[in-house]
Amino acid sequence: MSDGEGGAARLLIRDLAQVASPAGGGAPLRGAALREVGVTHDGFVLCEDGRIAGVGRMRDLKPLDDVEEIDGQGLSAVPGLVDCHTHACFAGDRVEEFSLRAAGASYEELHARGGGILSTVRATRAAGEAGLAEALSEHVDWMLRAGTTTFEAKSGYGLDRETELAQLRVIRDAGGVPTWLGAHAVPPEFAETGADAYLDFLLGEVLPEAVQLAEAADVFLERGAFDADQARRYLAACRDAGLALRLHGDQFTESGAIPLAIELGARSVDHLEATGESGIAALAASDVTGVVLPASALFLNRPMPPARALVDAGAAVALATDFNPGSAFCESLPLVCSLAATQLGLAPEEALSACTVNAAHVLQRVDRKGRLAAGFDADVVLVAAEDWRHLAYHLGGPVIDTVIAGGKIAWSSRA
Ligand code: NIG
Ligand code: FE
Repeated sequence: MSDGEGGAARLLIRDLAQVASPAGGGAPLRGAALREVGVTHDGFVLCEDGRIAGVGRMRDLKPLDDVEEIDGQGLSAVPGLVDCHTHACFAGDRVEEFSLRAAGASYEELHARGGGILSTVRATRAAGEAGLAEALSEHVDWMLRAGTTTFEAKSGYGLDRETELAQLRVIRDAGGVPTWLGAHAVPPEFAETGADAYLDFLLGEVLPEAVQLAEAADVFLERGAFDADQARRYLAACRDAGLALRLHGDQFTESGAIPLAIELGARSVDHLEATGESGIAALAASDVTGVVLPASALFLNRPMPPARALVDAGAAVALATDFNPGSAFCESLPLVCSLAATQLGLAPEEALSACTVNAAHVLQRVDRKGRLAAGFDADVVLVAAEDWRHLAYHLGGPVIDTVIAGGKIAWSSRA
């Protein structure tokens, strides 16, 4: 392994057993196309000035000088993973709550008692912007070690003007894609006046600045959080201000998230553990991507989302971690790929496409992220096995050898 510091403009990853990348150039991938992964055997990836300059077979590699090299023997390469749904910008933890849940308390009960999301709100408000930046930087490091080179992160643990905006700034400054989740829960200040008064505050006092920082808006449409009419009002105002739209929907109950996402032209509807047949059919016939989060279903001991049925019906499906301290304390997309294969009935190829190309589609970055092809950002994950499918096969194992981001070694297990 050569030293990535100093950043030679050209980096050659050579003698890779496999270079695997979703086939074709379209997005989002649906149906049979989701399963088509192109594999180059005995291959190389050449990076130049932060972009991929070429991918091919070793026998076709022309001699190069002035190039830093990584020996890829015994390894395979996949695109840098894209995590399109996280709540990584939080302070503190919820290990106490985890123990209570293990002893039988439910996530919804804890939330109703002022714990859950609201306990992370207290810790996040208390951390201050510098403390929050420090916490996020630790979480981003965890994600990077797991192969994530592009991440989205949501606000939603501030629920006041200052902390919501601080979260969005900190996410942006850490290189993440910021989503404004002001409508995550009703904070204690509005316990008396209620969700509608809180939405008045969000749209009047926070949206004008949130729109300068965030790329999308998100809402928790669920019993005990916001109902469909409230979600519609919040999202429509955010859309009119220029934000893309996302929804947390059908996590515990089918509360109208899919019809609303379609009505408003949302980018995605995420969770879907409670989605039934008509929701599957409606989503499949739409342009909205369904983001499934099996680590969250596992962590809360909930039913898995119907990902197989969604793919078979022709829906655009993406996979993400939902990384957060309460419902999915899990930053690992390789683990999520394992869950996709073992719990959702997806092939490793479908899982890879769902957390690369389709996740990049949700984040509106398909021209630069999610594929190993000339012109794309040089974000490459070296899998510690000759067959790239170990990414999903090795359940929770040390499957990441090296992570390259923007043509530079960002993390290596061998350092
Ligand atoms: O996606 N469901 C709502 N929000 C998050 C959980 C946030 C938390 O528990 O802190 C989710 O699961
Ligand atoms: Fe979430």
